[in-house]
Amino acid sequence: MKFFIDTANLSEIREAYDLGVLDGVTTNPSLMAKEGITGDENVKAHYKAICDIVDDKVSAEVIATDYEGMIREGKELAKIDDKIVVKIPMIRDGVKALKYFKSEGIRTNCTLIFSSGQALLAAKAGASYVSPFIGRLDDISYDGLELIGQIVHIYGNYGYETEVLAASIRHTMHLIKCAEIGADVATCPLKVITGLLKHPLTDSGLAQFLADHAKAAGK
Ligand code: G3P
Repeated sequence: MKFFIDTANLSEIREAYDLGVLDGVTTNPSLMAKEGITGDENVKAHYKAICDIVDDKVSAEVIATDYEGMIREGKELAKIDDKIVVKIPMIRDGVKALKYFKSEGIRTNCTLIFSSGQALLAAKAGASYVSPFIGRLDDISYDGLELIGQIVHIYGNYGYETEVLAASIRHTMHLIKCAEIGADVATCPLKVITGLLKHPLTDSGLAQFLADHAKAAGK
């Protein structure tokens, strides 16, 4: 399973990249706003700065919600760097835009997926990735992980090339369950990735090893 980091914060992206396990980055307008990035030129410069840190696959979301606007913005975003994946919302004009970008060889990530029907539509339109939001479904008492399983199953039935990018991941168990289910990618905050490191038996085991070594060495 590929690991993407879900942030527009450059130092968090650098930290995840330095750990050696990062395959890409996802952003959205809320995450860009959180970093205080506004204005077309600043937004483009920030995406470029992200692309300069990682090896590939930086999702950059369009703001337009009409077909022409999404095409115009998506083309501008794609020009920033070959690593850009244009993020398109799951709406009627978005589905049409996915088809257009597929024909142009521009990679897309269809976002705000909350049902397997939406995921099926995005795959048929040629999305490179679909982003089902696990945490936001869990928030309203639907089973986000069950949706990941349904989409993996449907795509497997027909050999769709669209990758299942599990998003809105809130904790390490979401991430681990996504790996069990067979999601292609999981995008999560830095703390979820580093959370995988933690186990009390690792900490106590290491402390014991070091203490035994020091004792044997007469320290
Ligand atoms: O990738 C989508 C993600 O940013 C949404 O996460 O935690 O805002 O539901 P969250």
